[in-house]
Amino acid sequence: MNKSETVKVQVPATTANCGPGFDALGIACNIYNELELTLLRENKLEIEISGEGTGYLPENDKNLIWKVVKSVVEKTDAAYEGAQIKMHNNIPLSRGLGSSAAAIVAGITAANCALGEPFDRQSVLEMATALEGHPDNVAPAIFGGMTVSLCEQNVVKTLSFLPKIDLKMIVAVPEFFLSTKKARKALPEFVSMSDAVFNVAHVSSLIAAMCTGNIDVLSHSFNDKLHQPYRADLIPGMYEVFDAAKAAGALGTAISGAGPSLIAFAVHEEEQIGRAMVAAFSKYQVDSHYLILDIDNKGARRIN
Ligand code: HSE
Repeated sequence: MNKSETVKVQVPATTANCGPGFDALGIACNIYNELELTLLRENKLEIEISGEGTGYLPENDKNLIWKVVKSVVEKTDAAYEGAQIKMHNNIPLSRGLGSSAAAIVAGITAANCALGEPFDRQSVLEMATALEGHPDNVAPAIFGGMTVSLCEQNVVKTLSFLPKIDLKMIVAVPEFFLSTKKARKALPEFVSMSDAVFNVAHVSSLIAAMCTGNIDVLSHSFNDKLHQPYRADLIPGMYEVFDAAKAAGALGTAISGAGPSLIAFAVHEEEQIGRAMVAAFSKYQVDSHYLILDIDNKGARRIN
């Protein structure tokens, strides 16, 4: 056979950190990228992109999905050298909604399916974490739900669960890009013991509140001292957008991943919160739009 079976996969957007859970917490959200992949024996590459990133993402061998697919094929003894790739992207690019994690997870999942699933989900998690550098977006992209992840040397452990609160996520997406690399460069090498203790308490409360359904404790749990204060200068109006969301009824607010999108968590008043966030951004000459998202509980999956 000159080609593999054609497989189509769907991968959710993700929001990482959730405030105090830097590099550890993530939530899968109900907007999705789709990838259709056929592996070819011949050394030929065809890439078609529609939706977000069209005309910007490379349609050649520099394409991230192709690089990921190739790296998965090379872990096996399958003799595929090329591919036909069609992607349709709904996840905004470089905005803190896990577009690169979605590309990595889509590439690994599709290649794994096309190869007859030689890798289990734990191996997919480890491959994706190695490529992304941290697990907090790739884990919810793979498993769905809210995920808690830890890495120790090469071992990655993830637990996925659904919060006992019918949580809505309101994301204000600004019209500018912020690369994760730049947002990580803004972080200090060392933090104080009191800031570390602050985050341990807040992230523990956040998880306990999500698992027990305690909305009062949850509303006190989103603050962070490890990354958000250092990233504020990269996101004009950040604190004012947070304040506007809370005044409109949000339980808590955070930078979505490394930003620049800002996220509010709420159980009601979603439209009002979204409008308030966009209006607060506009006072800082930042154009934005808002999305109201639910938690995705499926994660990456084959859809054909
Ligand atoms: N935890 C990561 C960060 C998420 O905040 O830098 C972005 O990939």
